[in-house]
Amino acid sequence: MSDKSQLSLLDRCLIQFDQALRSCVPGSSHAHRSSPAASQQDAELSEIDRKHAAGLMRINHTGEVCAQALYQGQAATATLNDVRQSMEQAAAEEVDHLAWCEERLQQLDSQPSILNPLWYTLSFGMGAAAGLAGDKWSLGFVAETEDQVCEHLEDHLRQLPEQDVKSRAILAQMISDERQHGDSAREAGAAELPAPIKTAMTTVSELMKKTTYRI
Ligand SMILES: [Fe+2]
Ligand SMILES: [Fe+2]
Repeated sequence: MSDKSQLSLLDRCLIQFDQALRSCVPGSSHAHRSSPAASQQDAELSEIDRKHAAGLMRINHTGEVCAQALYQGQAATATLNDVRQSMEQAAAEEVDHLAWCEERLQQLDSQPSILNPLWYTLSFGMGAAAGLAGDKWSLGFVAETEDQVCEHLEDHLRQLPEQDVKSRAILAQMISDERQHGDSAREAGAAELPAPIKTAMTTVSELMKKTTYRI
């Protein structure tokens, strides 16, 4: 593999653009682990339940697009030499989540949000800014993000139709992975973020959820 420091600015931009396309263009992400939904029986859903489940899974899919962008933005600016391996493993698991949510959206006769490129760009910027602030803040940002994601996924588990066992199985595995990502970041020395930053993160994610449920 080529040394990152020897790549030109143009090379780096092209790599980032390629990664952004992989995250935002449906069908271009491939999971390494099979989907937890595969072992679950497909259940008949009413039209209202199907639409509601699709809205929730579209939010979760966009959340995973944001996770890709956060990790990429952070990798572009942070040092994180001591924890690079665990960060790369977390990023690979986020690809699984992205692919599982996308497949489930298709099964629900729906599609990803058209706003994904916008959320990718915003999240990339936030990840890059966290990386520039230094490793302990960068890790703190990961830990806080994963905590908020777990809370949000638990809320969606309560909201999903009881019979949509496929979506529920995906979210249950995602919660377990995200919790592990947060714990790894804390073990690696994550700093507790100031309250105003946490509030700003919640505000942005609330805006994402409100818009993505529909489009
Ligand atoms: Fe994830
Ligand atoms: Fe995660």
